[in-house]
Amino acid sequence: MGKDLSRVKQTFYTCDGGSCRRAGAEQTSRDTRVYLRNSGSWETTHTVKTRCNGRCEDAPTWIVQPGNYWYKGVDSVRGVEILKSHIGNNEPLKEALLFKEGDLKMNSENERSNAFIKPFEYRELSEGKMGWITKGLSSDQYLYALFSKWFEIRGEGVYTNSKGKRFSLSKLSGIDYSDEFNIELTFGEEKELLMIGVVGIKDETERQKLKVRGTFYFSEEQSSTKGIIFKNKMGERLASITFENEEFWKYCETIQLGGVKIEELA
Ligand code: FES
Repeated sequence: MGKDLSRVKQTFYTCDGGSCRRAGAEQTSRDTRVYLRNSGSWETTHTVKTRCNGRCEDAPTWIVQPGNYWYKGVDSVRGVEILKSHIGNNEPLKEALLFKEGDLKMNSENERSNAFIKPFEYRELSEGKMGWITKGLSSDQYLYALFSKWFEIRGEGVYTNSKGKRFSLSKLSGIDYSDEFNIELTFGEEKELLMIGVVGIKDETERQKLKVRGTFYFSEEQSSTKGIIFKNKMGERLASITFENEEFWKYCETIQLGGVKIEELA
């Protein structure tokens, strides 16, 4: 039988996105549910696992309703303290709050500057080819959105994997976002995996080799070719895409790079 929602006084939204899971959210979730069950609070509370709450810097995160209380760094100990505070005293746990309604700013030590995307740099891109380049973001939230946009546009372009095999982007027939937080691209009968989360691989060296850690947007000066290069932590190329589609480039500048644009040379 399902829960009688008319008895529920508090709902705890526990983030189950990639960053929070990597920061131990599953353990927190299990331990705090044990507390709810064994303390007799199960029927008067509810827990909901969510996708990314948008505050990966403060992982693992929780949101508690009513009250719109946001919590940061919720490990098992802190999670139980939050439960006790809300259930017992109907009060937030102040020292763990990231944000609450009425606050003018968040209480985070991990706040990133808005200027985390650097301006495009003009330099030699490859032998004899000058152009502009900058580094974008590489989380699954950004890269899945990037490929989804390409899938929507379906323009001409080329995807090249780490072995140099080339696929026409117009043949992209599907995108899948796996449970391991990787992106699977389907080109006709063939599948290509771009590894963002790599949660299924335990060996740390192997993980670092496969995981996308750098996403670089470039535009060549002489040709109208634009592109994106995906690299691992060691700077090795995992894949790249090249294209001449202006609509897609505009999307990259606006959404992926947060409005950072190429400033032509005077
Ligand atoms: S994955 Fe939890 S806030 Fe992003």
